[in-house]
Amino acid sequence: MNTELTMDKLVSLCKRRGIIFPGSEIYGGLAGTWDYGPVGVEMKNNIKAAWWKMFVHDRSDMHGIDSAILMNSKVWEASGHVSGFTDPMVDCKNCKNRFRADHLDEGKYGEVKIIDGKKSCPVCGSTELTEPRLFNMMFRTYIGPVQDTESLVYLRPENAQGMFVDFKNVLDTMHPKLPFGIAQIGRVFRNEVTPGDFVFRVREFDLMEFEYFIDPKNWEELFEMWMKEIYKWLAFLGLDKEKIYNHEIPDGERAHYSKRTIDIEYQFPFGMKELCAIAYRTDYDLKCHIEKSGKDLTYFDEKASERLVPHVLEPTFGLDRALLASLVESYKEEQLENGETRIVLKLPPKISAYKTAVFPLVSNKEDIVNKATEVYKMLKPHFNTIFDDNGNIGKRYRRQDEIGTPFCITIDYDTLEKGDVTVRDRDTMKQERIKIEELADYIKTKI
Ligand code: GAP
Repeated sequence: MNTELTMDKLVSLCKRRGIIFPGSEIYGGLAGTWDYGPVGVEMKNNIKAAWWKMFVHDRSDMHGIDSAILMNSKVWEASGHVSGFTDPMVDCKNCKNRFRADHLDEGKYGEVKIIDGKKSCPVCGSTELTEPRLFNMMFRTYIGPVQDTESLVYLRPENAQGMFVDFKNVLDTMHPKLPFGIAQIGRVFRNEVTPGDFVFRVREFDLMEFEYFIDPKNWEELFEMWMKEIYKWLAFLGLDKEKIYNHEIPDGERAHYSKRTIDIEYQFPFGMKELCAIAYRTDYDLKCHIEKSGKDLTYFDEKASERLVPHVLEPTFGLDRALLASLVESYKEEQLENGETRIVLKLPPKISAYKTAVFPLVSNKEDIVNKATEVYKMLKPHFNTIFDDNGNIGKRYRRQDEIGTPFCITIDYDTLEKGDVTVRDRDTMKQERIKIEELADYIKTKI
Protein backbone atom coordinates (compact mmCIF):
# COMPACT_ATOMS: atom_id res chain seq x y z
CA MET A 1 0.00 0.00 0.00
CA ASN A 2 1.27 3.47 -0.83
CA THR A 3 1.44 5.49 2.38
CA GLU A 4 3.03 8.51 0.69
CA LEU A 5 1.13 11.76 1.12
CA THR A 6 -0.45 13.17 -2.02
CA MET A 7 -2.38 16.42 -2.22
CA ASP A 8 -5.52 14.47 -3.14
CA LYS A 9 -5.29 12.56 0.14
CA LEU A 10 -4.79 15.76 2.14
CA VAL A 11 -7.60 17.66 0.40
CA SER A 12 -9.93 14.74 0.98
CA LEU A 13 -8.99 14.43 4.67
CA CYS A 14 -9.48 18.18 5.17
CA LYS A 15 -12.95 18.04 3.62
CA ARG A 16 -13.98 14.85 5.43
CA ARG A 17 -12.93 16.13 8.85
CA GLY A 18 -14.09 19.75 8.78
CA ILE A 19 -10.68 21.30 8.33
CA ILE A 20 -10.95 23.00 4.91
CA PHE A 21 -13.86 23.00 2.42
CA PRO A 22 -13.92 24.26 -1.18
CA GLY A 23 -15.24 27.87 -1.25
CA SER A 24 -18.87 28.42 -2.46
CA GLU A 25 -19.14 24.67 -2.97
CA ILE A 26 -22.93 24.39 -3.44
CA TYR A 27 -22.67 26.79 -6.41
CA GLY A 28 -19.87 24.86 -8.08
CA GLY A 29 -17.09 26.62 -6.17
CA LEU A 30 -15.04 29.75 -6.82
CA ALA A 31 -11.47 29.22 -8.03
CA GLY A 32 -8.77 30.21 -5.57
CA THR A 33 -11.03 30.31 -2.49
CA TRP A 34 -11.33 27.85 0.39
CA ASP A 35 -13.40 27.90 3.59
CA TYR A 36 -11.97 26.82 6.92
CA GLY A 37 -14.36 24.50 8.74
CA PRO A 38 -14.98 24.08 12.50
CA VAL A 39 -11.73 22.18 12.97
CA GLY A 40 -9.59 24.21 10.54
CA VAL A 41 -10.56 27.57 12.01
CA GLU A 42 -9.35 26.41 15.44
CA MET A 43 -6.00 25.32 13.96
CA LYS A 44 -5.67 28.60 12.12
CA ASN A 45 -6.54 30.64 15.23
CA ASN A 46 -3.98 28.66 17.25
CA ILE A 47 -1.26 29.50 14.72
CA LYS A 48 -2.28 33.17 14.68
CA ALA A 49 -2.26 33.37 18.49
CA ALA A 50 1.14 31.65 18.71
CA TRP A 51 2.59 33.98 16.09
CA TRP A 52 1.29 37.05 17.95
CA LYS A 53 2.67 35.72 21.22
CA MET A 54 6.10 34.93 19.77
CA PHE A 55 6.59 38.08 17.72
CA VAL A 56 4.57 40.68 19.67
CA HIS A 57 3.79 39.74 23.29
CA ASP A 58 7.07 37.97 24.10
CA ARG A 59 9.09 40.96 22.87
CA SER A 60 9.46 44.49 24.20
CA ASP A 61 10.28 46.09 20.82
CA MET A 62 7.04 45.32 18.94
CA HIS A 63 3.66 47.01 18.64
CA GLY A 64 0.63 45.52 16.93
CA ILE A 65 -1.92 47.28 14.76
CA ASP A 66 -5.02 46.30 12.77
CA SER A 67 -5.37 48.63 9.80
CA ALA A 68 -8.26 48.85 7.32
CA ILE A 69 -8.31 46.56 4.27
CA LEU A 70 -9.51 49.45 2.11
CA MET A 71 -6.95 52.24 1.92
CA ASN A 72 -6.72 55.48 -0.06
CA SER A 73 -5.56 54.55 -3.60
CA LYS A 74 -2.66 56.97 -3.22
CA VAL A 75 -1.11 54.46 -0.79
CA TRP A 76 -0.77 51.90 -3.61
CA GLU A 77 0.43 54.49 -6.08
CA ALA A 78 3.14 55.58 -3.61
CA SER A 79 4.18 52.02 -2.75
CA GLY A 80 4.63 51.09 -6.41
CA HIS A 81 1.90 48.44 -6.39
CA VAL A 82 -0.25 50.20 -9.01
CA SER A 83 2.61 50.12 -11.48
CA GLY A 84 4.63 47.16 -10.25
CA PHE A 85 2.48 44.48 -8.58
CA THR A 86 2.12 42.47 -11.73
CA ASP A 87 2.49 39.00 -13.22
CA PRO A 88 3.20 38.37 -16.91
CA MET A 89 0.18 36.78 -18.54
CA VAL A 90 -0.33 35.00 -21.87
CA ASP A 91 -3.70 34.47 -23.62
CA CYS A 92 -4.57 31.77 -26.12
CA LYS A 93 -6.40 33.51 -28.98
CA ASN A 94 -8.02 30.22 -29.99
CA CYS A 95 -9.49 28.74 -26.78
CA LYS A 96 -9.35 32.02 -24.77
CA ASN A 97 -7.59 30.41 -21.81
CA ARG A 98 -5.28 32.65 -19.81
CA PHE A 99 -1.92 31.53 -18.37
CA ARG A 100 0.79 32.97 -16.16
CA ALA A 101 3.81 33.08 -18.46
CA ASP A 102 6.29 31.61 -15.95
CA HIS A 103 3.83 28.86 -14.94
CA LEU A 104 3.27 28.07 -18.62
CA ASP A 105 7.01 27.56 -19.08
CA GLU A 106 7.19 25.38 -15.94
CA GLY A 107 4.56 23.07 -17.50
CA LYS A 108 2.03 23.80 -14.74
CA TYR A 109 -0.90 23.74 -17.21
CA GLY A 110 0.32 20.67 -19.09
CA GLU A 111 2.78 20.06 -21.88
CA VAL A 112 3.85 23.04 -24.01
CA LYS A 113 5.27 22.02 -27.40
CA ILE A 114 7.43 24.12 -29.65
CA ILE A 115 5.94 24.02 -33.15
CA ASP A 116 7.65 26.02 -35.90
CA GLY A 117 9.51 27.94 -33.22
CA LYS A 118 6.27 28.90 -31.43
CA LYS A 119 4.93 27.68 -28.07
CA SER A 120 1.69 25.73 -28.18
CA CYS A 121 -1.34 26.15 -25.90
CA PRO A 122 -1.38 23.31 -23.31
CA VAL A 123 -5.20 23.19 -23.52
CA CYS A 124 -6.04 23.29 -27.25
CA GLY A 125 -2.61 22.94 -28.88
CA SER A 126 -2.92 26.18 -30.91
CA THR A 127 0.24 28.24 -31.41
CA GLU A 128 -1.82 31.44 -31.42
CA LEU A 129 -0.55 32.71 -28.05
CA THR A 130 -0.20 36.41 -27.27
CA GLU A 131 3.09 37.91 -26.12
CA PRO A 132 3.29 38.09 -22.28
CA ARG A 133 1.43 41.17 -20.96
CA LEU A 134 1.64 42.56 -17.45
CA PHE A 135 -1.46 41.95 -15.36
CA ASN A 136 -1.98 43.84 -12.07
CA MET A 137 -2.92 41.46 -9.28
CA MET A 138 -4.77 43.96 -7.08
CA PHE A 139 -8.54 43.52 -6.81
CA ARG A 140 -10.46 46.71 -7.45
CA THR A 141 -13.73 48.04 -6.08
CA TYR A 142 -15.45 51.42 -5.71
CA ILE A 143 -16.33 53.52 -2.69
CA GLY A 144 -19.86 54.96 -2.87
CA PRO A 145 -22.42 54.81 -5.68
CA VAL A 146 -20.37 56.27 -8.54
CA GLN A 147 -17.88 53.99 -10.26
CA ASP A 148 -15.13 56.24 -11.61
CA THR A 149 -11.41 56.79 -11.13
CA GLU A 150 -12.10 59.06 -8.15
CA SER A 151 -13.93 56.31 -6.24
CA LEU A 152 -11.59 53.46 -7.25
CA VAL A 153 -10.03 51.59 -4.31
CA TYR A 154 -8.01 48.39 -4.06
CA LEU A 155 -8.33 45.47 -1.67
CA ARG A 156 -4.92 45.40 -0.01
CA PRO A 157 -2.49 42.81 -1.42
CA GLU A 158 -0.23 43.04 1.68
CA ASN A 159 -0.51 44.38 5.24
CA ALA A 160 2.82 46.18 5.14
CA GLN A 161 1.48 49.49 3.82
CA GLY A 162 -0.76 49.77 6.90
CA MET A 163 2.38 49.77 9.04
CA PHE A 164 4.03 52.51 6.93
CA VAL A 165 0.93 54.68 6.76
CA ASP A 166 0.44 54.40 10.57
CA PHE A 167 4.17 54.77 11.30
CA LYS A 168 3.81 58.34 12.58
CA ASN A 169 0.72 57.51 14.65
CA VAL A 170 2.59 54.69 16.38
CA LEU A 171 5.64 56.95 16.94
CA ASP A 172 3.50 59.71 18.42
CA THR A 173 1.44 57.45 20.67
CA MET A 174 3.88 54.75 21.82
CA HIS A 175 7.22 56.63 21.58
CA PRO A 176 9.27 53.54 20.58
CA LYS A 177 13.05 53.71 20.19
CA LEU A 178 14.89 52.18 17.21
CA PRO A 179 15.02 49.33 16.50
CA PHE A 180 11.31 48.55 16.88
CA GLY A 181 8.61 46.79 14.92
CA ILE A 182 4.98 47.21 13.92
CA ALA A 183 3.14 43.92 13.41
CA GLN A 184 -0.16 42.99 11.87
CA ILE A 185 -2.19 39.90 11.01
CA GLY A 186 -4.93 40.34 8.44
CA ARG A 187 -6.69 39.32 5.27
CA VAL A 188 -5.11 40.24 1.93
CA PHE A 189 -6.30 39.76 -1.64
CA ARG A 190 -4.44 38.92 -4.85
CA ASN A 191 -5.99 38.24 -8.21
CA GLU A 192 -3.65 35.31 -8.90
CA VAL A 193 -3.62 34.20 -12.55
CA THR A 194 -3.05 30.57 -11.56
CA PRO A 195 -4.40 29.76 -8.10
CA GLY A 196 -3.80 26.17 -7.09
CA ASP A 197 -2.08 23.55 -4.97
CA PHE A 198 -4.92 23.68 -2.42
CA VAL A 199 -4.46 26.65 -0.04
CA PHE A 200 -0.89 27.25 -1.22
CA ARG A 201 -1.84 29.82 -3.87
CA VAL A 202 -5.24 31.39 -3.25
CA ARG A 203 -6.90 34.69 -4.08
CA GLU A 204 -7.50 35.77 -0.48
CA PHE A 205 -5.42 34.74 2.49
CA ASP A 206 -4.21 35.81 5.91
CA LEU A 207 -0.82 37.40 6.15
CA MET A 208 1.17 37.74 9.38
CA GLU A 209 3.96 40.24 8.95
CA PHE A 210 5.91 42.99 10.62
CA GLU A 211 8.03 45.94 9.65
CA TYR A 212 11.12 46.18 11.84
CA PHE A 213 12.42 49.74 11.73
CA ILE A 214 16.18 50.03 12.07
CA ASP A 215 19.19 52.24 11.68
CA PRO A 216 20.65 51.07 8.32
CA LYS A 217 24.11 50.70 9.91
CA ASN A 218 22.91 47.49 11.59
CA TRP A 219 20.88 45.91 8.83
CA GLU A 220 23.06 42.85 8.14
CA GLU A 221 23.34 41.84 11.79
CA LEU A 222 19.60 42.31 12.37
CA PHE A 223 18.78 40.39 9.18
CA GLU A 224 20.67 37.40 10.67
CA MET A 225 18.93 37.87 14.03
CA TRP A 226 15.53 37.62 12.30
CA MET A 227 16.59 34.55 10.33
CA LYS A 228 17.23 32.80 13.67
CA GLU A 229 13.85 33.91 15.03
CA ILE A 230 12.12 32.67 11.87
CA TYR A 231 13.68 29.24 12.40
CA LYS A 232 12.25 29.18 15.95
CA TRP A 233 8.85 29.79 14.36
CA LEU A 234 9.36 26.96 11.86
CA ALA A 235 10.21 24.66 14.78
CA PHE A 236 6.94 25.69 16.44
CA LEU A 237 5.11 24.57 13.28
CA GLY A 238 6.78 21.18 13.78
CA LEU A 239 8.65 21.33 10.47
CA ASP A 240 11.64 19.12 9.72
CA LYS A 241 14.72 21.32 9.11
CA GLU A 242 15.81 18.94 6.35
CA LYS A 243 12.76 19.97 4.33
CA ILE A 244 13.51 23.69 4.55
CA TYR A 245 15.66 25.62 2.11
CA ASN A 246 16.82 29.24 2.17
CA HIS A 247 16.44 30.62 -1.32
CA GLU A 248 18.52 33.77 -1.70
CA ILE A 249 16.76 35.79 -4.39
CA PRO A 250 19.33 37.10 -6.87
CA ASP A 251 19.65 40.67 -8.19
CA GLY A 252 17.05 41.44 -10.81
CA GLU A 253 14.50 38.95 -9.43
CA ARG A 254 13.63 40.65 -6.16
CA ALA A 255 10.48 42.73 -5.55
CA HIS A 256 10.84 46.35 -6.58
CA TYR A 257 11.45 47.49 -2.99
CA SER A 258 14.00 44.95 -1.77
CA LYS A 259 17.79 45.04 -1.42
CA ARG A 260 18.00 41.50 -0.03
CA THR A 261 15.33 38.80 0.11
CA ILE A 262 15.44 35.23 1.32
CA ASP A 263 12.47 33.05 0.50
CA ILE A 264 12.26 30.27 3.04
CA GLU A 265 11.02 27.26 1.12
CA TYR A 266 9.46 24.03 2.31
CA GLN A 267 9.28 20.64 0.63
CA PHE A 268 5.54 20.44 -0.17
CA PRO A 269 4.25 17.36 -2.04
CA PHE A 270 4.15 19.56 -5.18
CA GLY A 271 7.75 20.77 -4.83
CA MET A 272 10.10 23.00 -2.86
CA LYS A 273 8.06 26.21 -2.56
CA GLU A 274 8.03 29.51 -0.67
CA LEU A 275 6.62 29.21 2.83
CA CYS A 276 7.62 32.60 4.23
CA ALA A 277 10.21 35.27 3.48
CA ILE A 278 12.34 38.07 4.82
CA ALA A 279 13.16 41.20 2.88
CA TYR A 280 15.32 44.25 3.51
CA ARG A 281 12.97 46.94 2.16
CA THR A 282 15.46 49.75 2.96
CA ASP A 283 13.80 53.16 3.39
CA TYR A 284 11.95 52.70 0.10
CA ASP A 285 8.40 52.74 1.48
CA LEU A 286 8.72 55.51 4.06
CA LYS A 287 10.51 57.70 1.50
CA CYS A 288 7.79 57.09 -1.10
CA HIS A 289 5.09 58.00 1.43
CA ILE A 290 7.00 61.11 2.56
CA GLU A 291 7.19 62.24 -1.04
CA LYS A 292 3.56 61.48 -1.99
CA SER A 293 1.83 62.50 1.25
CA GLY A 294 4.05 65.48 2.03
CA LYS A 295 4.07 64.35 5.69
CA ASP A 296 7.11 64.10 7.94
CA LEU A 297 7.71 60.40 8.56
CA THR A 298 11.18 60.80 10.03
CA TYR A 299 12.40 59.53 13.38
CA PHE A 300 14.33 61.67 15.84
CA ASP A 301 17.38 59.90 17.22
CA GLU A 302 17.91 61.55 20.61
CA LYS A 303 21.43 60.17 21.16
CA ALA A 304 22.79 61.39 17.85
CA SER A 305 20.45 64.38 17.93
CA GLU A 306 19.49 63.88 14.30
CA ARG A 307 16.46 62.99 12.19
CA LEU A 308 16.53 59.94 9.93
CA VAL A 309 14.22 57.90 7.78
CA PRO A 310 14.48 54.42 9.33
CA HIS A 311 15.14 51.42 7.14
CA VAL A 312 13.03 48.30 7.38
CA LEU A 313 13.44 44.55 7.67
CA GLU A 314 10.27 42.64 6.88
CA PRO A 315 9.67 39.03 7.89
CA THR A 316 6.40 37.89 6.29
CA PHE A 317 4.43 34.70 6.86
CA GLY A 318 1.40 33.41 4.97
CA LEU A 319 -0.93 31.86 7.54
CA ASP A 320 -2.56 29.44 5.09
CA ARG A 321 0.82 28.17 3.92
CA ALA A 322 1.96 27.78 7.55
CA LEU A 323 -1.04 25.56 8.31
CA LEU A 324 -0.61 23.68 5.03
CA ALA A 325 3.05 22.93 5.83
CA SER A 326 2.11 21.79 9.32
CA LEU A 327 -0.58 19.48 7.93
CA VAL A 328 1.79 18.06 5.31
CA GLU A 329 4.52 17.46 7.89
CA SER A 330 2.22 15.85 10.44
CA TYR A 331 0.21 13.60 8.10
CA LYS A 332 1.12 9.94 8.69
CA GLU A 333 -0.36 6.65 7.57
CA GLU A 334 0.52 3.87 9.98
CA GLN A 335 0.15 0.15 9.62
CA LEU A 336 -1.48 -1.30 12.75
CA GLU A 337 -0.88 -4.76 14.20
CA ASN A 338 -4.38 -5.88 13.20
CA GLY A 339 -3.54 -5.15 9.57
CA GLU A 340 -5.57 -1.92 9.41
CA THR A 341 -4.09 1.43 8.49
CA ARG A 342 -4.65 4.54 10.53
CA ILE A 343 -4.28 8.11 9.31
CA VAL A 344 -3.01 10.39 12.03
CA LEU A 345 -2.07 14.06 12.12
CA LYS A 346 0.89 14.22 14.50
CA LEU A 347 0.43 17.97 14.86
CA PRO A 348 2.20 19.94 17.57
CA PRO A 349 -0.51 19.91 20.30
CA LYS A 350 -0.50 23.72 20.40
CA ILE A 351 -1.80 23.70 16.81
CA SER A 352 -4.37 20.90 17.25
CA ALA A 353 -7.98 22.14 17.23
CA TYR A 354 -8.86 20.17 20.37
CA LYS A 355 -6.40 19.12 23.06
CA THR A 356 -8.72 16.41 24.39
CA ALA A 357 -11.76 14.48 23.22
CA VAL A 358 -14.08 13.03 25.85
CA PHE A 359 -15.98 9.80 25.11
CA PRO A 360 -18.62 8.01 27.15
CA LEU A 361 -17.83 4.30 26.53
CA VAL A 362 -21.50 3.75 25.66
CA SER A 363 -24.10 6.35 24.77
CA ASN A 364 -27.12 4.56 26.24
CA LYS A 365 -26.09 4.40 29.93
CA GLU A 366 -27.19 7.55 31.70
CA ASP A 367 -24.60 7.33 34.50
CA ILE A 368 -21.73 7.04 32.06
CA VAL A 369 -22.99 9.80 29.77
CA ASN A 370 -23.55 12.11 32.77
CA LYS A 371 -20.06 11.43 34.12
CA ALA A 372 -18.53 12.03 30.68
CA THR A 373 -20.46 15.31 30.37
CA GLU A 374 -19.14 16.31 33.81
CA VAL A 375 -15.53 15.58 32.74
CA TYR A 376 -16.04 17.45 29.46
CA LYS A 377 -17.37 20.52 31.29
CA MET A 378 -14.53 20.32 33.79
CA LEU A 379 -11.85 20.27 31.05
CA LYS A 380 -13.34 22.85 28.69
CA PRO A 381 -12.28 25.97 30.64
CA HIS A 382 -8.67 24.67 30.64
CA PHE A 383 -8.34 23.88 26.93
CA ASN A 384 -10.49 23.31 23.89
CA THR A 385 -12.20 19.95 24.30
CA ILE A 386 -14.72 18.06 22.20
CA PHE A 387 -17.40 15.60 23.33
CA ASP A 388 -17.93 12.60 21.04
CA ASP A 389 -20.48 9.81 21.56
CA ASN A 390 -20.95 8.99 17.87
CA GLY A 391 -20.26 5.39 16.77
CA ASN A 392 -18.02 2.86 18.47
CA ILE A 393 -14.82 3.78 20.34
CA GLY A 394 -12.63 2.59 17.44
CA LYS A 395 -14.36 5.00 15.06
CA ARG A 396 -14.04 7.83 17.55
CA TYR A 397 -10.29 7.24 17.94
CA ARG A 398 -9.95 7.21 14.17
CA ARG A 399 -11.80 10.54 13.87
CA GLN A 400 -9.69 12.22 16.54
CA ASP A 401 -6.43 10.81 15.10
CA GLU A 402 -7.36 12.27 11.74
CA ILE A 403 -7.72 15.78 13.16
CA GLY A 404 -4.68 15.46 15.44
CA THR A 405 -6.34 15.52 18.89
CA PRO A 406 -3.44 14.58 21.22
CA PHE A 407 -5.51 12.88 23.96
CA CYS A 408 -8.75 10.89 24.02
CA ILE A 409 -10.41 10.32 27.38
CA THR A 410 -12.88 7.48 27.88
CA ILE A 411 -15.35 7.28 30.73
CA ASP A 412 -16.32 3.65 31.44
CA TYR A 413 -17.89 1.47 34.14
CA ASP A 414 -14.70 1.56 36.27
CA THR A 415 -14.85 5.36 36.24
CA LEU A 416 -18.14 5.22 38.15
CA GLU A 417 -16.59 3.01 40.82
CA LYS A 418 -12.99 4.26 41.04
CA GLY A 419 -13.14 7.84 39.74
CA ASP A 420 -10.45 7.36 37.09
CA VAL A 421 -10.55 7.47 33.28
CA THR A 422 -8.61 6.02 30.35
CA VAL A 423 -6.31 8.52 28.64
CA ARG A 424 -5.10 7.44 25.21
CA ASP A 425 -2.07 9.10 23.64
CA ARG A 426 -2.51 9.94 19.92
CA ASP A 427 1.08 9.20 18.91
CA THR A 428 1.88 6.06 20.91
CA MET A 429 -1.74 4.83 21.24
CA LYS A 430 -0.77 3.84 24.81
CA GLN A 431 -3.51 4.05 27.43
CA GLU A 432 -3.21 5.09 31.07
CA ARG A 433 -5.68 5.35 33.93
CA ILE A 434 -5.72 8.83 35.48
CA LYS A 435 -7.81 10.14 38.40
CA ILE A 436 -10.43 12.68 37.29
CA GLU A 437 -9.17 15.33 39.73
CA GLU A 438 -5.63 15.02 38.29
CA LEU A 439 -6.73 15.02 34.65
CA ALA A 440 -6.46 18.75 33.77
CA ASP A 441 -2.95 19.06 35.26
CA TYR A 442 -1.86 15.81 33.65
CA ILE A 443 -2.91 16.99 30.17
CA LYS A 444 -1.44 20.47 30.72
CA THR A 445 2.02 19.03 31.41
CA LYS A 446 1.81 17.03 28.17
CA ILE A 447 0.73 19.83 25.83
N1 GAP B 1 4.71 42.26 2.42
C1 GAP B 1 5.54 41.34 1.70
C2 GAP B 1 4.79 40.35 0.94
O1 GAP B 1 3.57 40.42 0.87
P1 GAP B 1 5.05 38.16 -0.53
O2 GAP B 1 6.24 37.28 -0.69
O3 GAP B 1 4.38 38.70 -1.73
O4 GAP B 1 5.54 39.35 0.41
C3 GAP B 1 4.24 37.06 1.69
O5 GAP B 1 3.98 37.38 0.35
C4 GAP B 1 3.81 35.64 2.03
O6 GAP B 1 2.43 35.47 1.71
C5 GAP B 1 4.51 34.54 1.24
O7 GAP B 1 5.74 34.18 1.83
C6 GAP B 1 3.49 33.41 1.35
O8 GAP B 1 3.62 32.76 2.58
C7 GAP B 1 2.18 34.15 1.35
N2 GAP B 1 1.50 34.17 0.02
C8 GAP B 1 1.83 34.93 -1.06
N3 GAP B 1 0.96 34.75 -2.04
C9 GAP B 1 0.05 33.85 -1.61
C10 GAP B 1 -1.12 33.25 -2.19
N4 GAP B 1 -1.54 33.57 -3.41
N5 GAP B 1 -1.81 32.36 -1.45
C11 GAP B 1 -1.42 32.04 -0.18
N6 GAP B 1 -0.34 32.59 0.40
C12 GAP B 1 0.39 33.47 -0.28
